[in-house]
Amino acid sequence: MVNIFLTFSLTENIFHNYFEKQVKDQVSSTLSGLDFGISILLDKGDLNSIQRMVEKIGAYSFIKIIRVYDLHNKIISSNDKGEINKKIKIEIVDKVIRENRLQNINSNLKEKKLEVAVPIKGTAYSKANKNDIMGVVFVQANTSSFEGILLKYQDLFIKKYIVSGTLLLLGILLLLVYKIFLPITKLSNAVNEVSDGDYKHEIIHNSHEEFSYLIQNFNSMIKRINARDMELKQVKSKLEEQNGVLEQKVDERTKELVQTQEVTIKSLAVLAETRDNETGMHVYRTKNYVRILAEHLKDHPRFSSYLNETNIELIVNSAQLHDIGKVGIPDRILRKKGKLTKDEFEEMKKHVIYGRDSILKAEKTMGTNSFLRFAKEIAYSHHEKWDGSGYPEGLAGEKIPICARLMAMADVYDALMSKRHYKEAFTHEEAVKIITAGDGRTMPEHFDPCVLESFKELNHKFKEIFLRFPERNS
Ligand SMILES: [Fe+2]
Ligand SMILES: [Fe+2]
Repeated sequence: MVNIFLTFSLTENIFHNYFEKQVKDQVSSTLSGLDFGISILLDKGDLNSIQRMVEKIGAYSFIKIIRVYDLHNKIISSNDKGEINKKIKIEIVDKVIRENRLQNINSNLKEKKLEVAVPIKGTAYSKANKNDIMGVVFVQANTSSFEGILLKYQDLFIKKYIVSGTLLLLGILLLLVYKIFLPITKLSNAVNEVSDGDYKHEIIHNSHEEFSYLIQNFNSMIKRINARDMELKQVKSKLEEQNGVLEQKVDERTKELVQTQEVTIKSLAVLAETRDNETGMHVYRTKNYVRILAEHLKDHPRFSSYLNETNIELIVNSAQLHDIGKVGIPDRILRKKGKLTKDEFEEMKKHVIYGRDSILKAEKTMGTNSFLRFAKEIAYSHHEKWDGSGYPEGLAGEKIPICARLMAMADVYDALMSKRHYKEAFTHEEAVKIITAGDGRTMPEHFDPCVLESFKELNHKFKEIFLRFPERNS
């Protein structure tokens, strides 16, 4: 082991810094791989600062022994607690205390292989008198463990660059955020607003931003879109105005058309009345029965697509023409007082064909979708019966047009309630009983079951209508 004397005025920081520097820069280069001892002369400071210094030195991994002797060779501090207060005489300590002199360190330590006193620079080296010496610190270390110290310096080096590198990265990041991320975010938000249909917001930007050109273009685009949007709104407003005028005209024309249709139908119905022995009241009543049946059934799944508002109006008006074909029946049969013969009845049944044909001729000049399509079906099929026992076709069930099924119920009820040449009028209750229970001539199976059910629910309204339009001569 090589012993080295260090002698200086002790202050905690000076010693600590010096110890590290000495070990790293000088001792490690000359004593590498050897155990060495350092004896340090203490001439300043107090025991507490000595103790803190000893603890700091002792924390180095390569330290084997660190002791503090007083002037009487008594150990006052040690990393081996068992040594404290013992007296261990070490010649070198005596020598340090006795001689307290400095030798030149310029000579090679390894060659001398002797204990030498190492002079230190500046304020650190001792100029103390013997009487000022407080004690000696003896440190024994193993230089083969110096890597610990070197690593510590490397760590510091790495940490230093990590810190400066991190700061540099943070700076770059901030620059990127300011120059790129923020402008892109503004642009992205603005594009999102535009995609949501909000064209009002231009981007407020700094002309020094990297994306300034892009943002300026975007703002120009927004301005053009807003201008175009304004034009479109003006055009839309004009169109709405014109549409309003057109709608008003269409409404007026539609009303005129409906009135024309009603007048046409009414004229035909009046024509039929002049020939028929049934009065005009029958026509009014049946029309109203048909309306309440249609209104009642319009939400029923079987009828809802058929009985829309437009169709109901056409069906109700067309109901007036159900017996228009009677204009083709000779007066001797039509006005006969008394029961018709079988042949006469067969002739009478032809009124449905005459009715259908006359409307068909009128319809041909109007096209297939004319308002007379329901009138034609009602005129031809209002004597058909659900069970197939009616005329002229003997149609059954769904094959009978819906409008004709409604008409059949209306016509039968009103016929039962009215006085005829061949019969007296029934009371409402009797009529309802005949329709719902049957009397042989009129049977419940003659009617669409849904229409029959509606009649059962609504027959009180039928009665009201019958009473509202009484026969003129009654
Ligand atoms: Fe008829
Ligand atoms: Fe009738």
